Amino acid sequence: MDPALLARLTSGEGWGLMQSLPTYDETAALALGARLRDAGFDADLVAAALTQSRLRARAVGKFGEAAAEMLFTADGLEQATRSEVAAPHAARFRDSGIQSVFDLGCGIGSDARALASAGLRVMAADSDELTAMIAAVNLKQWEHARVIHQRAETVQLPPSQPRDVGVWLDPARRIPGVADITGRTRRTFRLDELSPSWDFVRSVAETVPAVGAKLSPSFAHSAVPPGSQAQWTSFGGEVVECVVWWGELAWQPGRCAVVVTGRFAYEVHEQDAAGASTDGARLDRLHGYLYEADRAVIRAGLTGALVRRVDGVELGAGLGYVTSPRDVLVPWAKKYSVIDAMPLNNKALRAWLRDHRVGRLTIKKRGVSIDSDQLRRQMRLSGNSEATILLTRVGGAQVVLMLSAAL
Ligand SMILES: C[S@@+](CC[C@H](N)C(=O)[O-])C[C@H]1O[C@@H](n2cnc3c(N)ncnc32)[C@H](O)[C@@H]1O
Repeated sequence: MDPALLARLTSGEGWGLMQSLPTYDETAALALGARLRDAGFDADLVAAALTQSRLRARAVGKFGEAAAEMLFTADGLEQATRSEVAAPHAARFRDSGIQSVFDLGCGIGSDARALASAGLRVMAADSDELTAMIAAVNLKQWEHARVIHQRAETVQLPPSQPRDVGVWLDPARRIPGVADITGRTRRTFRLDELSPSWDFVRSVAETVPAVGAKLSPSFAHSAVPPGSQAQWTSFGGEVVECVVWWGELAWQPGRCAVVVTGRFAYEVHEQDAAGASTDGARLDRLHGYLYEADRAVIRAGLTGALVRRVDGVELGAGLGYVTSPRDVLVPWAKKYSVIDAMPLNNKALRAWLRDHRVGRLTIKKRGVSIDSDQLRRQMRLSGNSEATILLTRVGGAQVVLMLSAAL
């Protein structure tokens, strides 16, 4: 879609057409398009309205009902911060006494919407003309929000650095003009390929007293700038971002994890992991419970907080598994009862599965490179009960743990 077509889509006729469309149904889209063209609507307008309808249906998972009033590009939707994660970003600015935020590289405006709805004045900019126009539509309900089509590097920030002005950056991690095998814009995980650049982000953080930047979950611990707070967030078990907060917004400098579930968010800080025992686990002591830290906690390198919380032992460094005889409720970890544990040996495992009449096997693995499908075939399962096993390492050796979910 080009900017001229977007302007028509947001005009009375285009908007009316879009809002009148039924919930998107791929199987009915062709026929619907033909009917609309027969009814006299211009073919380009119909195609653009149907594209928006398809993107809105996809966006419901991130934006709920609000998606029905918003516009998207495919890349913009994919890169947009989901509303449950954008709202706490905005709250951090507000709760730090910030009143105005520059959103430099605003995309389709998801974070900017959260900032505006938290009552903050927003000046949002995007270097892509169409994306900036779309963000303007998505922010039109807030009088205190403005969107401009401009490169972040040329936006004039207040010279006197007032303490109530902050900057939010969510640099693009896609390389325009470079497609991946699915035809989508290729994603990059490299810090030196961000746009605006990582150097620019850090230069803003040096001059503005309250800055936040959203980066890839793979952001390296070694790259966390001194004095900042790096916060890995998961939503529904998937790590979605690492945000670096500087200045007023770095409430607890160091690394932390935020685990967002349906209605709650749990925080784990470096201090919670301080002094965690690094004693190695032993196969003959794997009784009781196995705890699996949320992935944001693992990414933040804070499995030690789980070790302390359950008074347990980590199975292997960096794996995120902790064993303990104690039954503890940890909202940011999954808990299993350990039924059995043994060195990984196909013959012994097959015998165990046969003795327990296992016909359906869930295989979890971490820290070992084993083909689960091949292993399952080799087990020649024939019973009618279910089992979950974990293939992992303990003390450098491959082991298998037989598990059952614990409440
Ligand atoms: C990851 S998206 C932002 C998503 C946004 N936070 C949201 O939740 O909707 C990054 C955006 O930065 C824009 N961008 C890339 N380089 C830029 C630059 N130098 N100045 C301004 N915007 C830029 C891209 O066009 C893209 O829309």
